[in-house]
Amino acid sequence: MVYVDEHPEYWNEYNNLQHVKHALLKRYLGGWFPILSTWHGRVVYVDCHAGRGEHARGQRGSPLIALEVLLGHRLLQRIIAHTEVVLTFIERDCANAAQLEGHLAEYALPSNVKAEVVCQDFEQVITGLVDDLVERKLQMAPAFIFVDPYGFKLSMGVLARLNSFERCELFVNFMWRYIDMAIHHDAQEENMDALFGSPEWRRTREIQDPAQRCDSAIRLFQQALGARYITWVKMLGENQAVKYVLIHATNHRRGRELMKEAIWAVCCTGDFVARVADNPDQEFLIRPEPDLAPLEDWLSSKYRGHEIRYREIEDELISTIFLPKHLHSVLRRARKDGRITLSAYEGRLAFDKNPMISYNPPPSRDRNRGRER
Ligand SMILES: C[S@@+](CC[C@H](N)C(=O)[O-])C[C@H]1O[C@@H](n2cnc3c(N)ncnc32)[C@H](O)[C@@H]1O
Repeated sequence: MVYVDEHPEYWNEYNNLQHVKHALLKRYLGGWFPILSTWHGRVVYVDCHAGRGEHARGQRGSPLIALEVLLGHRLLQRIIAHTEVVLTFIERDCANAAQLEGHLAEYALPSNVKAEVVCQDFEQVITGLVDDLVERKLQMAPAFIFVDPYGFKLSMGVLARLNSFERCELFVNFMWRYIDMAIHHDAQEENMDALFGSPEWRRTREIQDPAQRCDSAIRLFQQALGARYITWVKMLGENQAVKYVLIHATNHRRGRELMKEAIWAVCCTGDFVARVADNPDQEFLIRPEPDLAPLEDWLSSKYRGHEIRYREIEDELISTIFLPKHLHSVLRRARKDGRITLSAYEGRLAFDKNPMISYNPPPSRDRNRGRER
């Protein structure tokens, strides 16, 4: 059956959620391409719901953003010196696909960069690709796969197969508002079984609190996917309820770190939500200070009474949303307040010297808001 874009109006607007989604993608790929350029071979970007490439007022869509991040990268020559970068844009609506092809024709591509549009259903394309690799007993090249549907008709079978390839990362638009409605609809059970890959999601029906229900669904999604690390941003609609959740899944520590950095750069208030009502053109004159209290609490509850090397703490930081620079600032303050002591401490607190830290803060009574993710 011929598919026709069911939400053509999507291309007429460009709200803050679309802006944040693209800003995260841009920021992440800006770090991802050069890291993978050390990989001599092929690197793949797949946009499973590529769209038209451009919104009505000229804002770039995800395929052109990915391509421009690569072509405009200050390290482009180094990236493509020994690596072929293949960008595959899958779009089921053939009129959208044709528009995208028209935009792509405006770019001059170096010989080591390939960009192609495939007008087909993404699950068919991905299934064919994975079947072929499995049959030929081949590994997948390092891949970033962006899954950005309008709704929730996704199959965990396909996503989990992708994740089973060690160097394959997923960036999934988890359409929570629709999923939350579907969870409570008997007629949607089959779709929910496919999305979550098991009947477990039924337990989320019992959870009354909407935020907890959403978090529980994200955890179930991670378990079924089998990803080592997931990192997410909640996108809020007009009523401040979660509209969708952008979930990044990777099996690599560096991927997790890179996505944390991207999120802090884009959602700099540190609450990891984006609001539709915010102005996408807003520049922060003064960037808001992040709330580091959850990090202080996490450190004191984990390390109180222990002696530990700085690098061991930094290793564990991966399970939180905080960055090394936040850890540094909290440790500096704790040293100043006398809540930690350091071995062989001479004047400046040099983290690169991997000091031994005795963390012994007073018990905190009212703040147990650890932000583990
Ligand atoms: C939310 S839009 C994509 C936006 C795009 N990723 C961006 O950020 O610019 C969803 C797109 O997926 C396309 N689409 C819907 N179902 C699809 C399917 N099964 N396979 C591939 N594309 C599909 C729609 O036609 C639409 O263009």
